[in-house]
Amino acid sequence: MTSLASWSEGINLWALLEICSLILKSISTSKFGKIIHCDDRNKLTTYKTLSTWNLDCKAEKKMRWDLVVISVVGLILSFAEISSGGLTSSYVRNDEASEDMPLDSDVFAVPPGYNAPQQVHITQGDYEGNSVIISWVTPDEPGSDEVLYWPDNSGLRIIAKSFHVRYKYYNYTSGYIHHCPIKNLEFDTKYNYVVGIGNTTRQFWFTTPPKSGPDVPYTFGLIGDLGQTYDSNRTLTHYERNPAKGQAVLYVGDLSYADHYPFHNNIRWDTWGRFTERNVAYQPWIWSAGNHEIDWAPEIGEPKPFKPFTHRYHTPYEASNSTSPLWYSIKRASAYVIVVSTYSALGTYTPQYFWIERELPKVDRNETPWLIVIMHGPMYNSYESHYMEGENMRVQYEKLFVQHNVDVVFSGHVHAYERSEPVSNIEYNITNKKCSPKIDQTAPVYITIGDGGNIEGLSINMTEPQPNYSAFREASFGHGILEIKNRTHAHWSWYRNQDGYFVNADSTWLSNRYHVSSEELSVSESCDEKASS
Ligand SMILES: *[C@@H]1O[C@H](CO)[C@@H](O)[C@H](O)[C@H]1NC(C)=O
Ligand SMILES: *[C@@H]1O[C@H](CO)[C@@H](O)[C@H](O)[C@H]1NC(C)=O
Ligand SMILES: *[C@@H]1O[C@H](CO)[C@@H](O)[C@H](O)[C@H]1NC(C)=O
Ligand SMILES: *[C@@H]1O[C@H](CO)[C@@H](O)[C@H](O)[C@H]1NC(C)=O
Ligand SMILES: *[C@@H]1O[C@H](CO)[C@@H](O)[C@H](O)[C@H]1NC(C)=O
Ligand SMILES: *[C@@H]1O[C@H](CO)[C@@H](O)[C@H](O)[C@H]1NC(C)=O
Ligand SMILES: *[C@@H]1O[C@H](CO)[C@@H](O)[C@H](O)[C@H]1NC(C)=O
Ligand SMILES: *[C@@H]1O[C@H](CO)[C@@H](O)[C@H](O)[C@H]1NC(C)=O
Ligand SMILES: [Fe+2]
Repeated sequence: MTSLASWSEGINLWALLEICSLILKSISTSKFGKIIHCDDRNKLTTYKTLSTWNLDCKAEKKMRWDLVVISVVGLILSFAEISSGGLTSSYVRNDEASEDMPLDSDVFAVPPGYNAPQQVHITQGDYEGNSVIISWVTPDEPGSDEVLYWPDNSGLRIIAKSFHVRYKYYNYTSGYIHHCPIKNLEFDTKYNYVVGIGNTTRQFWFTTPPKSGPDVPYTFGLIGDLGQTYDSNRTLTHYERNPAKGQAVLYVGDLSYADHYPFHNNIRWDTWGRFTERNVAYQPWIWSAGNHEIDWAPEIGEPKPFKPFTHRYHTPYEASNSTSPLWYSIKRASAYVIVVSTYSALGTYTPQYFWIERELPKVDRNETPWLIVIMHGPMYNSYESHYMEGENMRVQYEKLFVQHNVDVVFSGHVHAYERSEPVSNIEYNITNKKCSPKIDQTAPVYITIGDGGNIEGLSINMTEPQPNYSAFREASFGHGILEIKNRTHAHWSWYRNQDGYFVNADSTWLSNRYHVSSEELSVSESCDEKASS
């Protein structure tokens, strides 16, 4: 509630009208088991997603009233939140171009002081979660490779040793990029750390996750395709102010969009590092690489893919026996996160394929019930943008994901939001014509969240009609929050962030694909039948 005032900063009359019309629509058009929802073109689409998510029919019936009540309460609370459960607005985003913030913007300011560390960022440093990699850049000279750290409220002071790298890209030369793995930390503990020892020091802190266990609650933020526009700044601000308080970010690829500039001007990698520091210095972002990380430009003498990304952003890939920093896995609290690389060889017999094939059966769902895959390009996407680009991935990996009950697959790439039903399309064998995705309660839900707000703008155009596997889609910028409650329940919400206000535009309960009993599944299926009859 602390930031109510700041949420209301940009609330305008249009938002008020918008929300009123939503409430009216929800009252007039929803009935048990059917929800009317409209996309951003004001087109009404009937769909029946809620029933597959709620574990019993009663809950759903109640929901209709909840919706109205919550909406009204939301209105009273300066539109702080609208719980939607399948309802979406007829939101039409204004079409102003997203522009990168200029180099002299406040968010890109170089920290004062000789050789002051900048672009400080952390990520998980091992497989289990009690290690971090602390990274930073010094501009003038290498400076000290040491990090001083200590548990909060402790007299202990510990020094860790890092190493640094540099790279050249066309006519750009990077600063000194330091990476410091710190191992064997206590779980669930706040640590302070200091970088820049010897010259200008800067202090930050982070909190390690609780040790993995089946019912350990944990909250992830989901951000993708962020870039460095004014919209990007809005997305990051909204994530920071979200009262759900994300503890770590699952980043679905496409970071700086430096490659948008002539000669991939890598100064825009530095600005992105300074811009995101205010969050990623304090909580780990779990990296996956997108197409804008490839930076493949043989015409200017840069034929080595992923050069800036792999120098700047390290991942703990060796801990999961991966042979490439672009794919790896981590355990974090009750989640097992598998990072897949859309832009690396992925066919049968490739290193990535062998690794994923061995990785999935290894997951102990009694220790880490939530099996999450993140990758840049979506396998299910009903926007025109990048339509069917993910088919190679889907053909190759969907069967494994279904067999191993992956709970949710998060992707970016398409600059919009979309959530699928739990679907499977693995029966098709080229001659049997079984080529429609089918609802399957043991199959993953696919969520596209490439809506961070980069310079390329939104993917507005959608394929029509909305395919029946697609539960919800809206072309807006935003971020997501995945709140894992226990081994069976996780809550997903997506926050649209246009025009300065903060609205929960899509939310749903996710039931664990592995731990929900067949009894519960049959209840939700019978709900579904009722809904469609
Ligand atoms: C790199 O080359 C571009 C194009 O020739 C030029 O505009 C830019 O100033 C150069 N940058 C440096 C650091 O030399
Ligand atoms: C920066 O730190 C190094 C190593 O501690 C020291 O030799 C150097 O004099 C310092 N430079 C300045 C300008 O403080
Ligand atoms: C970015 O967002 C922060 C936090 O809301 C704000 O203080 C800052 O002025 C913004 N900068 C730009 C360039 O929009
Ligand atoms: C990595 O491989 C080693 C040797 O086969 C094995 O002991 C270890 O458990 C593996 N680690 C992971 C995270 O799979
Ligand atoms: C494809 O599916 C059809 C129908 O289920 C089946 O008869 C056929 O044998 C399958 N083909 C292959 C090559 O598995
Ligand atoms: C979206 O569709 C409109 C109308 O068909 C078309 O004019 C426009 O070029 C499309 N936009 C993109 C980015 O493809
Ligand atoms: C979508 O419709 C097709 C054709 O009616 C059907 O075979 C398929 O099962 C449906 N899929 C979903 C996800 O409802
Ligand atoms: C799991 O969390 C959900 C949502 O908070 C709750 O309704 C349910 O009772 C919890 N289950 C157990 C076994 O605690
Ligand atoms: Fe992309």
